[in-house]
Amino acid sequence: MKVLVVGGGGREHAICWKLAQSPKVDKLYCAPGNAGIEQVAECVNVGAEDIEGICALAAEKAIDLAVIGPEVPLAMGITDELESRGIKVFGPNRKCSQLEASKSFTKAFLGRHDIPTAGYKEFTDKEELLDAAGIYGYPMVLKADGLAAGKGVVIAENEADAKAAIEEMMGQKVFGSAGDKVVVEEFLTGIEASMLCFVDENSIVPMESAQDYKRVFDGDKGPNTGGMGTYSPSLVFTPELEKQIREQILEPTLKGFQEDGLDFKGVLFIGLMISDDDPKVIEFNNRFGDPETQSVLPRLESDLLDIFLAVTENRLADVDIRWKDDKAVCVVAASGGYPGSYEKNKVIGGLDKVDDDVIVFHAGTAKKNTAELGCAGSGKPGCSGEPHMATVTSGGRVLGVTALGKTHEEARAKAYDNIKRIRFEGMQYRSDIGTINRR
Ligand code: AMP
Ligand code: GLY
Repeated sequence: MKVLVVGGGGREHAICWKLAQSPKVDKLYCAPGNAGIEQVAECVNVGAEDIEGICALAAEKAIDLAVIGPEVPLAMGITDELESRGIKVFGPNRKCSQLEASKSFTKAFLGRHDIPTAGYKEFTDKEELLDAAGIYGYPMVLKADGLAAGKGVVIAENEADAKAAIEEMMGQKVFGSAGDKVVVEEFLTGIEASMLCFVDENSIVPMESAQDYKRVFDGDKGPNTGGMGTYSPSLVFTPELEKQIREQILEPTLKGFQEDGLDFKGVLFIGLMISDDDPKVIEFNNRFGDPETQSVLPRLESDLLDIFLAVTENRLADVDIRWKDDKAVCVVAASGGYPGSYEKNKVIGGLDKVDDDVIVFHAGTAKKNTAELGCAGSGKPGCSGEPHMATVTSGGRVLGVTALGKTHEEARAKAYDNIKRIRFEGMQYRSDIGTINRR
């Protein structure tokens, strides 16, 4: 089979790494990919949001299956476009993608199908929303309705902050049209957990759980990021809680999809808030989590291609999905300054020092010549010797170092022991992944 993975981050590296192990994958492409993905797939320089370009590439390479990583091309309807050209796609169509692309769509879905979530109200008029500041008290949860690269949620501690956020979203339009509508929610307390599920028209099958650490600094301090690390399985879930989630959330969600004619095929990522053992849905995403995938897929025993194909053919219920007992920890190495502004093109040294059984997933990396960078022979990590192509940073989140172990502690110790061998200027990572927010 010829498979094309769309995207170029850590999540797509993990998907490609796992697919490359399938004996049924004859040729693996990734667009655009990155410097790590090119070790396991042929990278083609077509952007993930260039829908026409991706369709042309799929036709040229006679792709059998396309797997879509990020949410933006899904919301743009890449699945519908590829399917109309006869290509199988793992990833929901445009209609189903509203579950991530519109908070208001999802809140209405959850309400209609009696799925537990925070109470909410939606606003399209700035003055009306300013008058409603504090309707559920403080902190006030404000969400831009549309996609905002994970930045569209503001938790305002007081009236002044709430009004400033409303002004930014609806007045200055900092999220563009994503802020034309704003959803205000009750503030939920508890422990957050992510549940990723394979979904086709007949079934919803949760993967092993994972826990994400969204804040940039240790102790859950500092601004939110795309995710600074994960561990799997999450220690938040108990068998009773899983049963409750299955009965109160997963089963009604699948039934809701069927009743509403949402033919979802892909990954449904459910963000949960667990308070007093009572799970509530915070959000739906319609794709694998990043960096959840980097700690979940290394624990998958089964062939990922078999699962993807089964989903596209509505045979998910027939697949025996097996997981390893090993635990996994993924620690993200980010650029200095992230999630604010940061510099790129920092040469990454020490990648060759990492143990063979530790996986370094590349999130934001590229290849550049050290002569072009002006560091050849400088003795900087990764630069020594004759001019050569070096791996450099090209994004906020740069690498995800994943280790497996018999226990969470073993996996964590190994991930940290190895990330210390990697260096680039400004590199930052959290030192408490897997140790807090658990029970
Ligand atoms: P979302 O993009 O909807 O997942 O929101 C981003 C983050 O905001 C979540 O991971 C939570 O930490 C926080 N959040 C979202 N909704 C609520 C809520 N209703 N109550 C408390 N925190 C929330
Ligand atoms: N790690 C959070 C996300 O993928 O949305």
